[in-house]
Amino acid sequence: MKKYLITGGAGFIGSNFIRYLFSTYPDIRIVNLDKLTYAGNLDNLKDFEHDSRYRFVHGDICDAGLVDSLMPDVNVVVNFAAESHVDRSIGSPDEFIKTDIFGCFVLLEAARKHGVDRFMQISTDEVYGSIENGRFSETDALMPSSPYSASKAGADRLVYSYYVTYKLPVVIPRSSNNFGPYQFPEKLISLFITNALDEKALPIYGDGRNVRDWLYVMDNCEALDLILNKGRDGEVYNVGAGNEKMNIDITTQILRDTGNSEALMTYVEDRKGHDRRYALDIGKITSLGWTPRHNFESALSETVAWYRDNRWWWEKLKSGEYLEYYQNHYKRKL
Ligand code: NAD
Ligand code: DAU
Repeated sequence: MKKYLITGGAGFIGSNFIRYLFSTYPDIRIVNLDKLTYAGNLDNLKDFEHDSRYRFVHGDICDAGLVDSLMPDVNVVVNFAAESHVDRSIGSPDEFIKTDIFGCFVLLEAARKHGVDRFMQISTDEVYGSIENGRFSETDALMPSSPYSASKAGADRLVYSYYVTYKLPVVIPRSSNNFGPYQFPEKLISLFITNALDEKALPIYGDGRNVRDWLYVMDNCEALDLILNKGRDGEVYNVGAGNEKMNIDITTQILRDTGNSEALMTYVEDRKGHDRRYALDIGKITSLGWTPRHNFESALSETVAWYRDNRWWWEKLKSGEYLEYYQNHYKRKL
């Protein structure tokens, strides 16, 4: 029986992945280790709270004793735990270095000591840096440009080194920008949808023409599961959907879907070191048998509908500590 240690499972992608796993493989066990930072939220998995297949452990992946104590009971490790927001990494990088690099090292050491069948490190397309034309393939050089992406690049290569040096059976997906339900409302799509539903300004950085490849979170979950099961040891897999959109295009659809006018579009000071474009060659994962199943425009409309129907989930998040961050971050801008 597969017994997973999922770290960061109370966050956006991790919680969607846990939900996906339980609905796909009823006979599994999952331990979810999460520090519950501002981005971790037990509401994301409320329906599994009393499920005997599921155990939540409140803790830090940097805590070697705790991680070591969990490892004997699992045979698959999936590391989602990270500080994940580029803007926060520009303001205060410390936690990014600790969690994203050192935390990953702690997990690797415990996995090596106890032996696991699989170790999947959730990396990101941001490790390549920006690309004006063409697409990055898995063998291209890493040129990360923010403290966030540099931390993720460090972990990505550290994981690879455990394959080369210790033969730990690792796989490393590098996914593009995810969107969907349960995304903390500070990233472009979740922030803009929730602001638009409240008829608040949508702060567009710079000229709004930066390009991201948007991937619906459920398509990503399917890709991650495939890589976990079919990926070759030591290999990296790009995961993208080919939905290259400028931020202003995303904004326009969100305004349309929420019934708002373009008056909410507010151009603000640019992000420091703002990557212009991300684009991935996905030949390797498609030859493994994956293809994204969701159409971008309809998945975005469904996502808007989810946030419209689930105010209980996000309204309370946009207060307290978050509000302080938001006001400080955007104070010179809005
Ligand atoms: P998120 O910020 O929503 O969730 C991160 C989770 O990690 C939270 O539950 C948080 O409490 C937990 N966490 C943070 N520090 C921890 C620690 N020290 N110990 C234990 N738990 C800790 O992030 P997300 O958007 O779901 O991203 C998940 C992973 O996927 C990250 O590794 C991120 O780098 C990667 N990724 C994200 C995207 C994206 O578009 N969101 C794309 C590619 C890769
Ligand atoms: O590419 C994968 C990465 O995508 C993940 O590794 C990161 O964890 C995830 O946060 C995301 O990073 P981005 O920086 O691309 O996502 P974000 O949603 O923060 O920004 C997307 C684009 O929108 C980017 O060009 C900046 C712009 N933006 C963002 C915010 C929050 C705005 O114009 N205004 C905003 O208020």
